[in-house]
Amino acid sequence: MIRINENYTKLVSTYLFSEVARRVDEFQKSHPDRRIVRLGIGDVTLPLTPAVVAAFQAAVAEMGKDATFRGYGPDLGYDFLRKAIAEGDFRAHGAEVSAEEVFISDGSKCDTANIQELFAVDIRIAIPDPVYPVYVDTNVMAGRTGPWRDGRYGGVIYLDCTEDNGFVPDPPRSRVDLVYLCFPNNPTGATITRAQLAAWVSYARASRALILYDAAYVSYIRDESLPQSIFEIPGSRECAIEFRSFSKTAGFTGTRCAFTVIPKECMAWDAEGGAHPLHELWSRRMSTKFNGVSYPVQRAAAAVYTPQGLKETRGLSDFYLGNAKIIRDRMTGMGFPCIGGEDSPYIWAQVKMDSWKFFDLLLDKAGVVVTPGAGFGACGEGYARISAFNSREKVELAMEKMEAVASELRE
Ligand code: MLT
Repeated sequence: MIRINENYTKLVSTYLFSEVARRVDEFQKSHPDRRIVRLGIGDVTLPLTPAVVAAFQAAVAEMGKDATFRGYGPDLGYDFLRKAIAEGDFRAHGAEVSAEEVFISDGSKCDTANIQELFAVDIRIAIPDPVYPVYVDTNVMAGRTGPWRDGRYGGVIYLDCTEDNGFVPDPPRSRVDLVYLCFPNNPTGATITRAQLAAWVSYARASRALILYDAAYVSYIRDESLPQSIFEIPGSRECAIEFRSFSKTAGFTGTRCAFTVIPKECMAWDAEGGAHPLHELWSRRMSTKFNGVSYPVQRAAAAVYTPQGLKETRGLSDFYLGNAKIIRDRMTGMGFPCIGGEDSPYIWAQVKMDSWKFFDLLLDKAGVVVTPGAGFGACGEGYARISAFNSREKVELAMEKMEAVASELRE
């Protein structure tokens, strides 16, 4: 008899963004004439930039000629892209990362989800709340949590991110083995200072813990005092892995390309205390389970690091940050206090009511979709995440629609 992985039965609901999509589809079916504006899932709307498209097309043309056709690429990524990343994203900012430490993949969602198969099932994990749901759900699937009780999974050390700590958690007093951090944060848009990140690094080193640092939204940082990479912090190479993506940096949500950086000094231990380089384990995992990202996509990604590519892709994040400012200002004007949206494409608005109730009310009254804060964790209750990924026209329209019914968006 084929049996299931019963950890899946512990999952309390469908994946957050699938549930949002389901409710929106249902609403649209019952209100076919209503125009819906989507500021829910963080999916980009601007097209790939000209430098990226030119490199993409040139690589596709190469694939169509005998002399330049390529079959399987290297499992861990082409050197031209790994070198461009190490130089452009890290060394240029004073972070010591070599090309061999960069693993090219088809997405940070998959990487942050898959990395945990390198670790024992009985480790203690610390996860911020609110949080990108993938970190929690994948640990539930792996059997690293107890059942869901009173709004949380047993066995997880939740790091509450609230107004009181500026939505940036301090290291816990208790010992943990694996910590997830994401800055600029999804969903709150909060950023972490160098000193706060340094405190996490020293905690991890002292307890031989590992930090999984998701920097998918790094290209939205405008405040130059903020760290771009955890590898700017001394000592981090021993205790951190960083995830980055071209999705929100260069509009690759549909094109698919991302990367994970694992320094060669970064270790995890076996039951006898023997140290194992995570770089070797992940190389083994990737070469066994992954055949690489397509050559044209990697050429397109490499074009992001050319002078023209850098200029153009900066234009993308500038544009979405312009949307974020409009959303933040107008939401504040409507009486919803906000954080985020300054070095981040997400605005975290305090809606002062049950967040799914706000979601349904907003959809019904204004035809605007946001993501309910509770979908990101118990501490997200009373908040909504608003995404700045849309056209200027749709963002303005969403704000107008909300302003027209603002007095009805209260309990
Ligand atoms: C989000 O809306 O949180 C993101 O689109 C999720 C993702 O990047 O997978």
